[in-house]
Amino acid sequence: MIQAYIFLYILVTLIALCAACAPSLQYYIRAAGTRPPIDSSTTASVVYQFSLGANIENIAVQSDGNLLVTRLDEPELYQINPVSQSASLVHRFPAATGLSGITEIARDEFVVIAGHFSGSSAAPADFRIWKVDVRKGVHNLKVSRIAGIPEGHFLNGVASLGPKENAVLIADSAFGCVYRLDLKTGKYARALEDKTMKPVPGLPTIGINGIKVKDGYVYYTNSFQEIFCRVRIDTSKGTAIGEYEIVATNIHGDDFALGNDGNAYVAGNAKNVLSKVTLSGHIEVIAGDLGSTTVAGATSVAVGRTRRDRRTLYVVTSGAIYAPVNGTYVEGGKVVAVDLGVGTTSFM
Ligand SMILES: *[C@@H]1O[C@H](CO)[C@@H](O)[C@H](O)[C@H]1NC(C)=O
Repeated sequence: MIQAYIFLYILVTLIALCAACAPSLQYYIRAAGTRPPIDSSTTASVVYQFSLGANIENIAVQSDGNLLVTRLDEPELYQINPVSQSASLVHRFPAATGLSGITEIARDEFVVIAGHFSGSSAAPADFRIWKVDVRKGVHNLKVSRIAGIPEGHFLNGVASLGPKENAVLIADSAFGCVYRLDLKTGKYARALEDKTMKPVPGLPTIGINGIKVKDGYVYYTNSFQEIFCRVRIDTSKGTAIGEYEIVATNIHGDDFALGNDGNAYVAGNAKNVLSKVTLSGHIEVIAGDLGSTTVAGATSVAVGRTRRDRRTLYVVTSGAIYAPVNGTYVEGGKVVAVDLGVGTTSFM
């Protein structure tokens, strides 16, 4: 019995010693307790910041790990190298004032939404949907027009239905519906519409915003209803085959990423935070704060794609132009790397 106590004492002392000198071990000890494994070692650092006025709206990741980001204030697509922390203009689109959503439709082929974004998003804005092919690199890119959606009001988030379907779903924030666009024919039609997608009367006309497709479901945020939702769909037609479900409430969400850990990582634009939302509706802020610039005006999120950054979330920001930090502070839009730390190997 006494021997057992001595053994235990030595073991505890050893662990305490190691914990003091090895942060990673300390992490595992904490993770074994009741603390959630994510907050203790999460760090955030700026990858690249644009000049004041640049409003970064969305992000996708190339197979080589480079990031593609869209600007809402200019019709420009940029590539950000997260290693060298540099940016280069990939393409400037004609007949538009800005870009919104971007999604990968096949390896290194992306769909980008361009339109005329004005202060009032209540009027249709002559949206065009483009395909950007960077399979041979951004210096040999091919850009082609897939379709125009003239009756779109504020086409915003976009998600692929999968390479086999050769179609995307596009969220209309102002009208509160989802279009299905066939990428081969350019034909489109309204596929989803529900009260959980509508804007709130009297508030900015932004209902459904970010949209993602995973395992037969469409997931989406509604910014001003402050809800995160999902609906089971026919993955070919894009139409609902189940109830529209509210997964979480009290979540002011712009666009978001889905991790393979089953959680959504939601950019909380006006709240200056990045939140983790579980399928059971639990919300946890993992970066930022209302008065902080860390992810001020967060608009979207993407998961790193290489061995080096598969536990990293890249958050893009507007620079807090919609809701200045503390009422006054705005900055250039930026890309922030939020590293989830050593405990999240199952993330991807
Ligand atoms: C906002 O206000 C808080 C509280 O006074 C302060 O700590 C923080 O630095 C402010 N943020 C900015 C960006 O000024």
